[in-house]
Amino acid sequence: MAADPDVATGPLDLADRVDEALAVQALAFGLSEEEIDIRRYIVLRHLTNPGARALGATTPDGRLVGFVYGMPNDRGHWWSTIVEPYLRADGSDGWLDDSFVITELHVHPAHQGRGIGRELITTLTDGAAQPRSILSAIDTESPARALYRSLGYRDLARQVLFPSAPSPYAVMGAPLPLRRGGPPGN
Ligand SMILES: CC(C)(COP(=O)(O)OP(=O)(O)OC[C@H]1O[C@@H](n2cnc3c(N)ncnc32)[C@H](O)[C@@H]1OP(=O)(O)O)[C@@H](O)C(=O)NCCC(=O)NCCS
Repeated sequence: MAADPDVATGPLDLADRVDEALAVQALAFGLSEEEIDIRRYIVLRHLTNPGARALGATTPDGRLVGFVYGMPNDRGHWWSTIVEPYLRADGSDGWLDDSFVITELHVHPAHQGRGIGRELITTLTDGAAQPRSILSAIDTESPARALYRSLGYRDLARQVLFPSAPSPYAVMGAPLPLRRGGPPGN
């Protein structure tokens, strides 16, 4: 599906527009005021990593309605240290090397289902130097999980518990470039 023609996707200065991005995330994913404050700190810290990149989806009047960001994985990063034992348990922790992590992907609910999420993640990973990508998503049959599967991501681990997160996550990995137009698979 072609992305919404009324919304332009392109490079995003996420540090500059972090509050707008978190407002989108709060609507799309659900964040409390306290969680927004924590996420702001985390996002700004992530952006200091070499290779961290962000893309945004913007309406003609300049409103941000979607964003994605990620970075080359580093086994020393907090996220990686949490998922590593789960992946190691079945020998798939090699996915943590030479991999581009999708850290966040969110589209404003009023703009979902028009191809924006697919375009954001595909374009961001197309610019990655790594041969594969990994991410985590709440371990349920959500639109996000369906999107990731359709792009070639498969489950590497399930029921992954992050401290302080109420729901378990699935860790997924895909070869790059992401699949175009193919059937969903896992
Ligand atoms: C996941 C998300 C970013 C997808 O963005 P989007 O712009 O709505 O997605 P797209 O329009 O590009 O749709 C891409 C695919 O997602 C899946 N999808 C989208 N909406 C869906 C729905 N309501 N039910 C099932 N699958 C759905 C489909 O596989 C779809 O492909 P198709 O159009 O070829 O059928 C968006 O739904 C969102 O922000 N969700 C809430 C936040 C979230 O869960 N973020 C991910 C955290 S891991």
